[in-house]
Amino acid sequence: MKTFQNLKCCSLRTLRKAFCMLALLTLFASSAFALQDGAARTPPMGFNTWNYFGCNGCTQANILNVAKAMLLKHAANWEGKSICLQDAGYKYINLDDCWLNGKGGHPVNDTLKWNTSNFPLGMPKLTDSLHHMGFLAGIYTCAGTSTCAGYPSSQGYEAMDAYTYIKWGFNYLKDDWCNITNNATPQQAYTAMGNGITAANKALSKSGFVFSLCSWGDGNPWTWGDGAAHLWRTTGDIKSNFNGSGAGSVQGNYILNYNEAQPYNGPGHWNDPDMLEVGNGIGGATQDQSHFDLWCIAAAPLLMGNNTPAMTEQTFTILSNREVIAVNQDSLGLAGHRVAGNGQTVDIYVKVMKSKDTTAQRIAAVCVVNWGTGSVSGQSITWANLGEKNTSQKYTVRDLHAHTDLSTTATGSYTTATIPGNGTQMLLFTSSNAVETRDYAGLTGPMNTDKLLTRVNANVLECYVSHANSLVQVFSLSGKEVSSFSAPEANWYKVNGRMLPGTYILRVTGNNSVMEGKVALFSK
Ligand code: GLA
Repeated sequence: MKTFQNLKCCSLRTLRKAFCMLALLTLFASSAFALQDGAARTPPMGFNTWNYFGCNGCTQANILNVAKAMLLKHAANWEGKSICLQDAGYKYINLDDCWLNGKGGHPVNDTLKWNTSNFPLGMPKLTDSLHHMGFLAGIYTCAGTSTCAGYPSSQGYEAMDAYTYIKWGFNYLKDDWCNITNNATPQQAYTAMGNGITAANKALSKSGFVFSLCSWGDGNPWTWGDGAAHLWRTTGDIKSNFNGSGAGSVQGNYILNYNEAQPYNGPGHWNDPDMLEVGNGIGGATQDQSHFDLWCIAAAPLLMGNNTPAMTEQTFTILSNREVIAVNQDSLGLAGHRVAGNGQTVDIYVKVMKSKDTTAQRIAAVCVVNWGTGSVSGQSITWANLGEKNTSQKYTVRDLHAHTDLSTTATGSYTTATIPGNGTQMLLFTSSNAVETRDYAGLTGPMNTDKLLTRVNANVLECYVSHANSLVQVFSLSGKEVSSFSAPEANWYKVNGRMLPGTYILRVTGNNSVMEGKVALFSK
């Protein structure tokens, strides 16, 4: 299957022969990259039982009621359409902890068993029902000997359990981090499960399975998670609070590790600040809206955690706002970059999005969040914040809550209206015409030095080499060398006209010095 996809991709996009060779070679690459398999190209959207239903409510009845609620069309919205949550993009329905039959360790040399009172249909029929309703199904395990709530889990049985879940028809696995007794590091433990999933997919001829690792940020999974899993928790558990520091609130979960993990986000590998508490009483509509906007600008997974069958219209309106969801689901997969603030008072996040193919406009979403409880007056968003060099470039500024254009002729900077305590403004900036840097653009400055210069010339990324006889290397964020070449003299060099969109590290070594810079490449 994978071979077919790679070959098809080569012929369809007429990539150079050399790149086809590279794609084929990756088939035989080390198992650490086994999960770069084309799944979860945009952040997963769906529902998980834990935040509202907890342990006792992890039942077939609740799951099926949630599924029905997600298919219920609501009155015509601002688009003039009646839609349901499934229409808005939510497709996974995931069980969390407590689906198993009885506490304790894994049955010795035997498969896991579900709780037959809570799941009378049984897992294969439950996944079948969900599939018939147009959903995909997710299940939960733990990397230790028992789950966080004390039920049997997968340590030492990764391959057997992965096979069981996929055989039962599941499409998604969350793998938690309690009760590890074999001293495995997160990377070792989750590589074992990733390998189990790869083997089970192969044995059962399945693909598209999503693997969500949940080490709560332990072991900095963003630095190695790309290829080991499709998403990884960046922090401990969220709770239904808005303000706070450290895990346990919207603000705490969002800010903790944000700047460290943000550059590692991308298609197939997502930072996960935990599931949504929208609708669970974190304050009111203002806080719910802000929570949703923040997760969307971060390109975070959107897993609802509320009592979906009983949600209010206000909760539905927030969760089904397709203009805000489009920011989350943008195919470039960049997480918003914090351009102002320190996570305590007012922050501004900018998420560069894919240009529309026909117009090559520059599009950036902006979320201004007021963490404080009092209102704040206008905040200025400058064109430099947007990554726009031409200060006279006109932009349309659209309010994604009100679904109206606030200006069609903004230049240089834009000042927001007053933002209430704990509130956000969620805006979309679209240039009025094509901009020069539409193909490639630097997202962040060089990491270790400000001396590594990059530029875009005729749509090709170039870097400046300041010493003769230097070596230029390009790495993926997981440290894998993508390409290298030698630079005989001090000059500008084309880095690679054919690199796929994504974030890369450039390293120039010469004259006993090493200079590194991070660049993000955007495609048209
Ligand atoms: C951990 C996870 C939570 C949830 C519970 C279940 O705390 O981080 O998201 O899965 O376990 O016990």
